Amino acid sequence: MEEERRWHWWQRAVIYHIYPRSFADSNGDGVGDLEGIRRKLDYLTWLGIDAIWLSPIFRSPMADFGYDISDYLDVDPTFGTFEDLERLIADAHARGLKVILDFVPNHTSDQHPWFLESRSRRDHPRRRWYIWADPAPDGGPPNNWRSIFGGSAWEFDAATGQYYLHTFLKEQPDLNWRNPEVQAAMLDVLRFWFTRGVDGFRLDAIWFLIKDEELRDNPVNPEYTPDQPSYRELLPVYTSDRPEIHEILFRMRQVANAFGERVLIGEIYLPVGRLVTYYGCPHRRELHLPFNFALLLVPWEARRVGAAIDTYEALLSPDDWPNWVLSNHDRPRVATRVGEAQARVAAMLLFTLRGTPTIYYGDELGLSDVPIPPERRRDPLEQTIGPGAGRDSCRTPMPWDDSSGAGFTTGEPWLPLNPDYATRNVAVQRKDPRSMLSLYRELLILRRAEPVLVVGRYRPVPAPDDLLAFLREAAGRRLLVVLNFGGHERTFTTSRFTLRGQVLLSTSLDRAGEIIESGLVLRPNEGCIVALRE
Ligand code: NOJ
Repeated sequence: MEEERRWHWWQRAVIYHIYPRSFADSNGDGVGDLEGIRRKLDYLTWLGIDAIWLSPIFRSPMADFGYDISDYLDVDPTFGTFEDLERLIADAHARGLKVILDFVPNHTSDQHPWFLESRSRRDHPRRRWYIWADPAPDGGPPNNWRSIFGGSAWEFDAATGQYYLHTFLKEQPDLNWRNPEVQAAMLDVLRFWFTRGVDGFRLDAIWFLIKDEELRDNPVNPEYTPDQPSYRELLPVYTSDRPEIHEILFRMRQVANAFGERVLIGEIYLPVGRLVTYYGCPHRRELHLPFNFALLLVPWEARRVGAAIDTYEALLSPDDWPNWVLSNHDRPRVATRVGEAQARVAAMLLFTLRGTPTIYYGDELGLSDVPIPPERRRDPLEQTIGPGAGRDSCRTPMPWDDSSGAGFTTGEPWLPLNPDYATRNVAVQRKDPRSMLSLYRELLILRRAEPVLVVGRYRPVPAPDDLLAFLREAAGRRLLVVLNFGGHERTFTTSRFTLRGQVLLSTSLDRAGEIIESGLVLRPNEGCIVALRE
């Protein structure tokens, strides 16, 4: 089909997000590694995904489990060796899978040689690689900026008498992206990995990259309520989403373009009207996929979800390609947020919307957040923000089977396993034709079989009560998706088109082939994909 050839791989792809510490441990130390991932490539191919994105695997003191990098050009021994990564990339490519790495440009580790030099003396040439400022007249921090991870965003360095900025932990000093030398060095990091076959990057915390040059105070948030983290007391007007970011993203895109078909995905939590500016202008393209977290944040009600989809779709220009996410390593898992029954509906939504879906490892098993006893909590946010603020619960090991380490490790897993791992694991669900895993796989098989699900237009269809309905349309093919967000049986009818066709897939995996002649009956918490007859 001529039309199909225009699509880039990252538009057609389903991305699978791996938290490497928790996916598969090959050496029994209780922490996942690259060789573990490599040994699971057959599983990923069987599941039907097209690309893996690995949370950071670079050298790191692990203050923030890899999001504090001390060498961008090497692999941390926790995860293996440089050769392990090369082998993983080669073996993934041999199976037709793309490999996306996680680039953390906003900050380095405080153990990065650049920062060690920067803090060594005020007149060191690297001083300007980070953001240093004199104390306020009272000796306190230079301004009121807050760290997202609690407290002031400034840390005093007694040896040189100045403060440095850290948007996250104090072990994660912010780079000064206004400095052309920083830009050049960091763009070289991208080139280094692109040359070694990496297919793209997820760019961490990208909307924080540039801060106000005059270090002006952030204004007070009039909507702040004391139940929110203290970071929310101020509006991050001068610390995020600054206009100069776009020039830098344009340069990153030029680097990516020079290597052919590569993808840049950005982590951005902003209102959708701001989010879409990160695609860039028609002639100055920036990110291929600014992550769209709408489904991760919206209250799970048919009306609210429908409005979030329609708002996003309406704001995209013809050049902008949509994308969707249900969970990640920073937020409660989808099964915890919406419940297991609705997690099946959410899966059907993820794979039938227009745009590139990203799966978070374990969601395909319906994995929930795992309660972690205080003594086993590892996330530093438990200390810096307070008990309960940690993100460990959504980062627990992947359960592969019912053996003592769940097939994840032969040792002691670094975080507890899900208590139901004996029954909720890959081996059990692979054998069960109605399992969540089977639903994910069937949805991915259907996406491959029905290009309309990938490239077709999206058209919302009015639906009553708890139902969400939309059409996907491309030349000669029309699929209707109807999702029941409620716990009651509902019947979908419409006057917009003739409702006649055949069920291709239902979330309960027992209705394929059913002929629909008028109304479509949805059981509680059920979704259906129907191929409409012309
Ligand atoms: C966003 C990442 O997703 C999160 O895990 C990390 O802690 C912060 N950025 C800081 O890098």
